[in-house]
Amino acid sequence: MPDPIAIVSDLLAPAFAEAVGRRGEQVDPVIRPSDRADAQANGALALAKAAGRNPRDVAAAALAAAHLDGVCTAEIAGPGFVNLTFDNAFLAGLAAEMAGDSRLSVPGASIPQRVVIDYSAPNVAKEMHVGHLRSTIIGDALVRVHEFLGHTVIRENHIGDWGRPFGMLIEHLLDLGEDQAAHELSVGDLDAFYKQANAKFKDSAEFQERSRQRVALLQGGEPESLRLWGILVGESTRYFSAVYRILGVKLTSDDNMGESAYNELLQPVVDRLATSGLLTDSDGAEVVFAPGYTNREGDPLPLIIRNRHGGFNYATFDLATVIDRVERLKATTLLYVVGAPQAQHLAMCWDVCRMAGWVPDNVRIVHVPFGSVLDADRKMLRSRSGDSVKLVDLLTEAIERGRAAVRSKNPELPAEETDEIGRVIGLGAVKYADLSNDRIRDYVFEWERMLSFDGNTAPYLQYAHARIRSLFRRAGVEPETVRAVTPTLDEPAERALVLRLLGFAPAVAATAESYSPHKLCAYLFDLAGDFTTFYEACPILKDGYEATRASRLALADLTARTLALGLGLLGIDVPERM
Ligand code: ARG
Repeated sequence: MPDPIAIVSDLLAPAFAEAVGRRGEQVDPVIRPSDRADAQANGALALAKAAGRNPRDVAAAALAAAHLDGVCTAEIAGPGFVNLTFDNAFLAGLAAEMAGDSRLSVPGASIPQRVVIDYSAPNVAKEMHVGHLRSTIIGDALVRVHEFLGHTVIRENHIGDWGRPFGMLIEHLLDLGEDQAAHELSVGDLDAFYKQANAKFKDSAEFQERSRQRVALLQGGEPESLRLWGILVGESTRYFSAVYRILGVKLTSDDNMGESAYNELLQPVVDRLATSGLLTDSDGAEVVFAPGYTNREGDPLPLIIRNRHGGFNYATFDLATVIDRVERLKATTLLYVVGAPQAQHLAMCWDVCRMAGWVPDNVRIVHVPFGSVLDADRKMLRSRSGDSVKLVDLLTEAIERGRAAVRSKNPELPAEETDEIGRVIGLGAVKYADLSNDRIRDYVFEWERMLSFDGNTAPYLQYAHARIRSLFRRAGVEPETVRAVTPTLDEPAERALVLRLLGFAPAVAATAESYSPHKLCAYLFDLAGDFTTFYEACPILKDGYEATRASRLALADLTARTLALGLGLLGIDVPERM
């Protein structure tokens, strides 16, 4: 672990324990980055209080017992804080260690988990909306971070591909004719298709009746109905996969695990709930009551397992996902990257799973919720016609705008390169705009802002990376050749940059722990800022600075690699030039 704070923490913990007569016990010296020094240890306050001693005395005793030589100097301040200033040679050594490691000193997880990540999850024969885009982008970042940390990640796309609407969708498909329907669906005109079917269902009793019969046939496994259903699913998933390919996320059709995949588990879910005595009848529906959930009137809120017509519910599928993920996939962590409005639904499902005894103690189930995407008027983002935004159109526009941005930044670039770099810039901008906001909050979708080369944006970070790479081209130096150089940290800006670089591993850890990609974004933005300060204060290629050149190139290279790796963990590419 290259994190200087973690290293000092390991050195101070036993010293603090000894100082309060608790040798051999685990105590926390509570070390945090600080403005007063590089870091501050505040552990003496709580430890002294518990021991009925003076915090300054405890701090002094701890420092007398600790071996901090070659690591940092320590000073007691105020009521018993310990201000810590790392030795330059210590920091430089850690930076060299980081540069020599392809993982940039990010340790793997101490206990690797089997992690199922449920994300994207659009619905068949319906347009993917920006909510699905958020889930896809956030889920993809979490997949990459978890894989990098050495967890076994199983991606699952819980596509809405089963249930009542399929009766009317199949009948509408028959009305249109298979070829025409397939065409409409394959060009991604999903909303129109769904709306037409819905309109007929509302207007025509005959269509309604046909649709009902069709659902019954479909759920009874009648082959022709299944074949027609397969057309709907096939065309839609082809469209979804096209969106994933454009986005460059890891999700493919191999990860599809739609509602229909749980068909065989639905009856067992009912049977198991019945056996454990949890299933009750409510107006002809089969439901489970989990304590603590009430409706607006204050009455207990049931989780509906099977409705009055014998149909299974959205919740039933989610109970089945837990059984399948725990029992078949042997997952130890289940992440559901699903919009915040489904929080209660998911919480109820998991409570029921726990009540039924399906969730072993070592299994964590986590909802990773996110807010909405808003337009400039802070309304839900929609297209000009008022329909939900078609994702391919949005991504096409992102790529076009990315290309325009690159063209105006660097008109000299050959057209082919502009196209490729513009694509990377445009998609990066969309992803980063999403990921850099605390996911739980709504954010405003603004093309100009997300594509700006200033501020906390992907183009800014991508440009910072490209600028370093171009520096090496100008210097005629291969980056690999400076990776064994231990930097010298004479200038404050060099030292600050190294301290920031060493914060990479903790930033990745914090991101994984809280499933919050915006923490990694904030880190990368700070890093790019510290690099700019360094770059302005510390000449690299200028004549007269030969003595510090290798050291400064090493710092630049390490910055570029940290930006590239960090953005890569967010699913964002970095061009070598811009
Ligand atoms: N298809 C659902 C929707 O569009 C999302 C499914 C999320 N995943 C889950 N296991 N419930 O709202």
